[in-house]
Amino acid sequence: MQKNRLCNSDPLIFISSNIACCAFSILYKFGVIKSIIESKEITEEFIASSSHPDLIKTSLQTLKNYQILKKSGSLYKLSKLGREIYKNVGTIELIHDGYGLLLANYLNIYKNRSLHPESLINGRSIASASIAIAEQGVDPVVFNELKKLSIQGTICDLGCGSAASLLKICKKTGLKGLGIELNDDALKLARESLGKKSPVKLIKGDIAKVTGKYEDVEVLMHCFAMHDITPGKQCIRVLKSYLEHFPNMRYFFYIDSVAHTEKELSFLPGFDFIHALLGIPVRTYDETLSLFKNSGYQILKEKALKQIPNSYLWILKPLTK
Ligand SMILES: C[S@@+](CC[C@H](N)C(=O)[O-])C[C@H]1O[C@@H](n2cnc3c(N)ncnc32)[C@H](O)[C@@H]1O
Repeated sequence: MQKNRLCNSDPLIFISSNIACCAFSILYKFGVIKSIIESKEITEEFIASSSHPDLIKTSLQTLKNYQILKKSGSLYKLSKLGREIYKNVGTIELIHDGYGLLLANYLNIYKNRSLHPESLINGRSIASASIAIAEQGVDPVVFNELKKLSIQGTICDLGCGSAASLLKICKKTGLKGLGIELNDDALKLARESLGKKSPVKLIKGDIAKVTGKYEDVEVLMHCFAMHDITPGKQCIRVLKSYLEHFPNMRYFFYIDSVAHTEKELSFLPGFDFIHALLGIPVRTYDETLSLFKNSGYQILKEKALKQIPNSYLWILKPLTK
């Protein structure tokens, strides 16, 4: 059981933490955080030459107030907390950019004035933020498990986003990849980064409505895409359909987050709330396990993702094999 780390007794810290995240994100995007890590001086001239000098100045001040940055002589340094936040910069981008417009409309959604909350999502930002999150908390775990299996066929990533993880896996293993993604902005980002001679092929498609047979696919995987397929009955139908569309699938790497329950103190910030805004009820750990059982899969292995609360890699195998 992980401890609840979000306990701070100062109400003003709680109320304004959104602003501190925006300040961190601005400094990250402008390259200031990188310069600080490389011990480069953030000079007045550098700040004055940026397009928004006041925003850089106040962002630096905000992070000093939050003890995320400290000043040592003429140099800024990241505090221990700042270095930990830097490791989670993908989550900041995901929440504040990917879902920023959705969150800003929370009252409209509550008052039923925003009928299509999913249109408020920034698919490109979600795909780009997911790269950093996966690099930290998912890719090493997946790669470590994959190399224990003797795989020769194609790896298919359902809801591949930028396809960065899939490309990395294919380059390391020499295997072919197939990415299926629905969001046009995410697909555009993926196409920009794959290049022409990529081992990864992309298909625009809905992972809840796969058609055809992909006989070459030996490993199916999805990374934080399946929780959007609800209700449970629909997800069971989709998971069962994969057994037909991917008849030679030997392993299914199922990576996802689960809802917070009273049983655990830990929770993934924003996951339950953001999906509630989207009208998507998120599944608990127990509900997720019963999905596998009811759709014809057995669990070969379960690994909690240390860096991402309430999130797991389950290695599944079709029951018929
Ligand atoms: C949180 S992102 C993760 C992206 C990628 N798997 C990664 O870990 O870097 C979830 C992705 O699943 C895609 N997705 C969600 N539902 C989908 C569907 N029904 N069909 C295809 N893609 C879907 C989203 O567009 C998004 O790119």
